[in-house]
Amino acid sequence: MTILDGKKTSNDIKSEIAISVKEIVAKGSRPPHLAAVIVGEDGASLTYVGSKVRACKRVGFESTLIKLSDKITESELLLKVKELNENNAIDGYIVQLPLPSHINSQKILMAVDPDKDVDGFHPTNFGKMALNLPTFISATPYGIMELLNRYNVETSGKHTVVIGRSDIVGRPVSILMSRKSNPGNSTVTLAHSRTKNIKELTLQADIIISALGTPDFVTKDMVKDGVVIVDVGITRVKDDSKKGYKIVGDVDFENVSKKSSYITPVPGGVGPMTIAMLLKNTLQAFLK
Ligand code: GUN
Repeated sequence: MTILDGKKTSNDIKSEIAISVKEIVAKGSRPPHLAAVIVGEDGASLTYVGSKVRACKRVGFESTLIKLSDKITESELLLKVKELNENNAIDGYIVQLPLPSHINSQKILMAVDPDKDVDGFHPTNFGKMALNLPTFISATPYGIMELLNRYNVETSGKHTVVIGRSDIVGRPVSILMSRKSNPGNSTVTLAHSRTKNIKELTLQADIIISALGTPDFVTKDMVKDGVVIVDVGITRVKDDSKKGYKIVGDVDFENVSKKSSYITPVPGGVGPMTIAMLLKNTLQAFLK
């Protein structure tokens, strides 16, 4: 069994990016600049955005964190998005999700300039991704593909079962795994909350990508020997630690890992890869 070590791989990627930034700055240019918009005080979102901003510092990017009240109206937020689209000192930006329920997230994401959409959430970029055209690929699906790539995990001709059909993970990664490319060329089943007999499907899977957010959903009786497991779950579960919680994935790691050929841990698997790929997209936005 090999651990797909997202922490180490993301550090490798960040070091590569830092070298590119040094070269850019040595030529007299300003460094790439990522901005992040966060609305409200959701603890998990603040943590994620904080990590994104810290990662910028680490590779030598400039970063701007824009914290807005959860009382902001949709039109005020649209104005902020317009401002960011027009600001030439910012190469790319993200609007952290989820947004408060009085704001139509799709309306906001559609207003982001596709050339600055380093999250890859705009329909133009999502469409290009589906068509195998150069674009920004959303950070989490991109991170999964990069991890499989760097560990030379064979995906061609394999049966991949993706669990969860979210717009930001399950659906895009199901498309990427089926694309005619490497990694890719998989036969993909996209399972979701209405799927019947999910165990029948997972037992046939060579690769399982679980992006559900339900702790211990994938158990050892659901997987065959030699399976590749990518666990995208990040659920906060209360515990006695100083923080008061721990992060757990969708997979019963202790038991499933015994049957796996490759497996991502949680934490330290897909999570850190997401941040590294966001930085990669921002570098790409700068170089455009
Ligand atoms: N919320 C959870 N994941 C993400 C992400 O990758 N990008 C943004 N903008 N919000 C998120």
